[in-house]
Amino acid sequence: MIDTDLYRTEFRRRFHRDGIAYFAPGRVNLIGEHTDYNGGFVFPGAIDCGITAILHPNNSTSVNLYSVDWDKEYRFDIADDNMPEDRHFRYVYGVVREMQAAGVPVGGFDAVYGGDVPLGAGMSSSAALECCFAVALNDLFGDNRLDKMTLALIGQATEHKYVGVKCGIMDQFASMHGREGALMRLDCRSGDYEYFSWNPQGYRLLLVNSCMKHELVGSPYNDRRESCERVARLAGVETLRDCTWQQLEMLKPQLTDEDYRRARYVLGETDRVLAVCDALGKGDYEETGRQMYLTHQGLSKDYEVSCEELDFLVDMARQCGVSGSRLMGGGFGGCTINLVKEELYDAFVENISHSYRERFSFDCKIIPVVIGPGARRIA
Ligand code: GLA
Repeated sequence: MIDTDLYRTEFRRRFHRDGIAYFAPGRVNLIGEHTDYNGGFVFPGAIDCGITAILHPNNSTSVNLYSVDWDKEYRFDIADDNMPEDRHFRYVYGVVREMQAAGVPVGGFDAVYGGDVPLGAGMSSSAALECCFAVALNDLFGDNRLDKMTLALIGQATEHKYVGVKCGIMDQFASMHGREGALMRLDCRSGDYEYFSWNPQGYRLLLVNSCMKHELVGSPYNDRRESCERVARLAGVETLRDCTWQQLEMLKPQLTDEDYRRARYVLGETDRVLAVCDALGKGDYEETGRQMYLTHQGLSKDYEVSCEELDFLVDMARQCGVSGSRLMGGGFGGCTINLVKEELYDAFVENISHSYRERFSFDCKIIPVVIGPGARRIA
């Protein structure tokens, strides 16, 4: 995790006092992609990198922000109805507004923040930012009266209303509810979740960042969601979670090929998450990995959210004998998540780094996965 001293020092330099530190993590997702907004299952875990913020109330109505990573400052009044032009600050602005709407009397405050979760890598840097401020404002102004799920929903509402990404709940849920050494299976229809301790003897999880920035804003992410909603409407169900294979086949003549393939991917992914839960129950990591490859195939061919670089990384993983590999998160760039046998780990890292550079003339980045706790105040 990031060393907070840098942020504390910057806060003192700017605001001439000490602030209080908060941290919220990014996430990985073992399986269950683009299922959250379809009422399906996801299988995420919080990681050990994320966003750190130092805050202090300032007894005024003014919010003074400084983003270390962007080296930019921004000021707004807590009653200001105008969204910041700069999208980066809309995450914080949106959280402030949504917290107020939820009844938390947010007053003016000073904040310095930054992070070590790579931006645009599909590791939920924006959810980490939202959750970090949500936890902080709940603590500083709300006596911690809002529960974790409410804070996660505030982060999601921020994406919808202030950023324009119609995301599901997975990222904010994972950032809020993470637990050290545990993955979580969330049923996005009921909101029920369960912790699964993640200790795959003989295997490791690692991310390979393609370093192709993914950008969900203005991307076809929202289009994918619309396809799913169209099919669900025709099937007469609230979300695709409640659409059966039989119903989908019956509707096929009425659907565009594209909408049909999107829905086929989603129905398949629900089955795959359940297959992985079964496999994990039996300690069968090879089967888990096999399902991950199938997910990638669906994401690439039916859901069409992959890109050449990600497909290459998954193909290479397969050639290197990696048990499972797939693109992770929204897609259109970002990382692959890989389930690798211990004995293959070093050779895989070397091989993939080398071949990626040879193929694309720039480097991919290897990120070992450490499953950590969720958003919190830090000492
Ligand atoms: C992004 C969204 C999530 C989820 C994933 C795909 O990370 O923020 O809600 O839809 O894409 O699984």
